[in-house]
Amino acid sequence: MTPEWWRTAAIYQIYPRSFADANGDGMGDLAGITSRLGALQELGIDAIWLSPFYTSPQRDAGYDVADYRDVDPLFGTLADFDAMVAESHARGIRVIVDLVPNHSSDAHVWFQAALAAAPGSAERARYLFRDGRGDDGSEAPNNWKSVFGGPAWTRVLEADGTPGQWYLHLFDSSQPDFDWTNEEVRDEFRDILRFWLDRGVDGFRVDVAHGMVKAEGLPDYTPPAEGGSMGGAGGLTTDAAASGAPLEPGISDEHGGSAPYWAQDGVHEIYRDWRLLLDEYPGERVLAAEAWVDPLSRVAKWVRPDEMHQAFNFAYLETPWNAAALRRVIDDSLDAFAAVGAPSTWVLSNHDVVRHATRLSVTEANPQGHGLGPRSKGLPSFEAGLRRARAATALMLALPGSAYIYQGEELGLPEVIDLPDGARQDPTWFRTAGERYGRDGCRVPLPWESSAPSYGFGPADASWLPQPEQWASLARDVQRGDPASTLSLYRDALALRRERRLGAGAVEWLPGQPESVVAFRNGDIVVIANTGDAPVELPAGEVLLSSEPLDGRVLPADTTAWLAA
Ligand code: NOJ
Repeated sequence: MTPEWWRTAAIYQIYPRSFADANGDGMGDLAGITSRLGALQELGIDAIWLSPFYTSPQRDAGYDVADYRDVDPLFGTLADFDAMVAESHARGIRVIVDLVPNHSSDAHVWFQAALAAAPGSAERARYLFRDGRGDDGSEAPNNWKSVFGGPAWTRVLEADGTPGQWYLHLFDSSQPDFDWTNEEVRDEFRDILRFWLDRGVDGFRVDVAHGMVKAEGLPDYTPPAEGGSMGGAGGLTTDAAASGAPLEPGISDEHGGSAPYWAQDGVHEIYRDWRLLLDEYPGERVLAAEAWVDPLSRVAKWVRPDEMHQAFNFAYLETPWNAAALRRVIDDSLDAFAAVGAPSTWVLSNHDVVRHATRLSVTEANPQGHGLGPRSKGLPSFEAGLRRARAATALMLALPGSAYIYQGEELGLPEVIDLPDGARQDPTWFRTAGERYGRDGCRVPLPWESSAPSYGFGPADASWLPQPEQWASLARDVQRGDPASTLSLYRDALALRRERRLGAGAVEWLPGQPESVVAFRNGDIVVIANTGDAPVELPAGEVLLSSEPLDGRVLPADTTAWLAA
């Protein structure tokens, strides 16, 4: 077993509802995952991270958990979970599960008990219930906004039927925030961690890891400018951002500034406590933070030696396809994480952002969480988007540290733009009355077999979001034997990354390269990515991998190559 496997791991995110459907109901499930693990082993990843599969009314696709210790019948049973873990481990794949500690579902027994109990009761004290403002308490306790749009407070009816207190929900109204100053909440989550560790999971991806503690007194807060979703306001892949123009006003404040619900110092105590608990278990179990915080030096606080192991690098995800910006974020990432002894992580796509096969080439501002749809402007052609995405991935997989891959990106899937309005399910869509499309476009079920019903997603022709016809040409079976396919590019890059130990390497910038190029040495590999419009000359060395076919010693636009040097 490699010591500290997580420092260099390639981690594949499974979005269970859209990965593989074993029972044909149109919704992916755990048995579906187990049946397709061979494809992931072949891809060459070290671990999988599963988005939530717990009992849930699915108001936010499972990030609204009603029972933290059970599997939703949509996804199967605990026995299916155990089988999935056993099969993953047998194939040398570790399993990370999602933990959602900032909020529960309103269907959770604790919240139902809170609704039935009186103001001031112990049941209400597990959440953030407050009296309203104004003479009759009819105004929300403060002015905070939900990340999904609209107010962050909802008023309840008391037992006698009269309008009563309000509860806080930073996300959907069906996702009440816990009060993490309450010891009972802390105990409950320690117990939940043990429940899954005892079942053999290798770690947790912690949802909203920057939001669990709120500033004392819940003071009003007005962000300097409207932010995006997930407590993030990124998606800054526009030409304006690429040119080095200042980011949208307010972004750094929203991520790392004075928002009284993000990045409060008190959260770190929770992770120190969890780290001690995880360390009691053998086998290097890990914690990975979803913390949308700016700048990277602040994100690094989550991965100090006695806290979590990894934090997602959203600064990297939000960086446009621009050489200067990429060099800067790579340096900043390596410096910030190294300063606390943690590995850097890298990520380009996940279930909350526009897929990078589209996003990196969009030319109009598109704040993260707003999504893309038929009204959106500045969209690239499929070919142009894919070309750039392949180059971006080849660059990312050459970087030292741990890389995250979101299901479907290895097939080059673009964002699905033309979902019918009636099919959309993201709460963002509903809470903004259709003004923001939200995240459904990156969540469409995967194509496995070109000519099978639901493109092999499941045995029936059923899929919880409609799959575009284009899935036929992108299905895994058509890409598998094609050396020029995106799937082959991912497989080759992951194999070389492992063989040459790039994850454990270092970045040494190559001097004398054109401004539009990102070029560095990592161990015995030279990596060169051309983000400009004009072709550039390749440095010396045998080409080991290239995101596009090469003609002589020239690297075309939007292409990355790895050379032996
Ligand atoms: C971040 C998750 O990734 C996202 O999908 C979810 O909607 C929010 N947290 C709320 O749990």
